[in-house]
Amino acid sequence: TPSVRLAVIPGDGIGPEVVSEGLKVLSAVGPQHGLQLETTTYDLGARRWHETGQTLTDETEKQLSEHDAILLGAVGDPSVPSGVLERGLLLRLRFAFAHYVNLRPVRLYPGVSTPLGDTSPEDVDMLVVREGTEGPYAGAGGVLRKGTAHEIATQDSVNTRFGVERVVRYAFERAQERPRKKLTLVHKDNVLTYAGELWQRVVREIGASYPEVSVDYLHVDAATMFFVSDPQRFDVVVTDNLFGDILTDLGAAIAGGIGLAASGNVNPPREFPSMFEPVHGSAPDIAGRGIADPTATILSVALLLEHLGVQAAARQVEEAVSADLQVRAKENSQRSTSQIGDDIVARATESG
Ligand code: NAD
Ligand code: IPM
Ligand code: MN
Repeated sequence: TPSVRLAVIPGDGIGPEVVSEGLKVLSAVGPQHGLQLETTTYDLGARRWHETGQTLTDETEKQLSEHDAILLGAVGDPSVPSGVLERGLLLRLRFAFAHYVNLRPVRLYPGVSTPLGDTSPEDVDMLVVREGTEGPYAGAGGVLRKGTAHEIATQDSVNTRFGVERVVRYAFERAQERPRKKLTLVHKDNVLTYAGELWQRVVREIGASYPEVSVDYLHVDAATMFFVSDPQRFDVVVTDNLFGDILTDLGAAIAGGIGLAASGNVNPPREFPSMFEPVHGSAPDIAGRGIADPTATILSVALLLEHLGVQAAARQVEEAVSADLQVRAKENSQRSTSQIGDDIVARATESG
């Protein structure tokens, strides 16, 4: 049986609450498929920062790199200056482990209500491939004449040929294997002319090797509109780091809410561990009350299982979630975070 070394970073706010449900499901389903899990929990986040002033040491980063995968809850806390944990921990890991693919499926499960109204699951089934290591996230730029009336803050978007090419190639591969074989590039090449032209040219060049994939382009503003008015338009979407961040919160909203949206920060060559996490953050407004929805984390565990090559286990988790979502619509009392986890475990294991 393959032994999997999993690093777990519960993090801040609702992070620990949802991660324990994800682990509950993983440890119930994994062994049914011959998966042996060795988990190590890393206490990183706000508490650690207050205590030591550290977000992530080189030593811890090295330890993390020696795992097969990482499961993360969320980072960020109102008691810590904005950006310290987000950059010092989350983005640092995405960059250090070359998570150039930020995989974010947007799927409407049967029975789940959507603000789109008369929309069925077949209408919303896309895969957003968000670039994960560049763009405005790179940290290029700075502040001049700080505190004066002439202060200038620049935040450059970094787009390298190497970085754009590798994520675009991945997106074509994923489009090629899906029934609709459609790839939409989302950018803003009418304004961001340097970066946009690079993305367009790379899509054209790589696309020549994927003649079966039809390619479409949308400006990001129009794309947000079509996410709501015509989600059927989208199959695989490839886009820049920041556009992808914004689009996938919108994607979550049209597919039943942020509590359901899963993601994987993937390093396709597997030179580094990939990291799976819900799309949502630490939700300080509801933390500690046991009411956070763990579904996004549980679906992220399904993405993790898929990444580990245990497709049957991934399907089992997805089907259990899907069944659970169908009954939610009819519920008249709200279940706790751990109750939802228990119910999904029960469904996932009842047939096994
Ligand atoms: P958020 O996703 O944490 O919360 C937005 C809203 O969605 C809140 O009302 C919250 O209660 C709700 N929500 C989120 N997850 C939920 C769940 N599982 N169940 C039920 N409701 C849920 O975004 P925010 O408020 O913009 O950010 C809060 C903090 O989280 C910030 O510090 C931010 O930087 C950080 N953040 C971290 C990550 C991450 O670790 N990947 C992602 C996004 C935001
Ligand atoms: C996400 C989050 C992060 C991002 C933040 C917390 C750095 O919003 O995972 O979507 O912008 O990528
Ligand atoms: Mn986000």
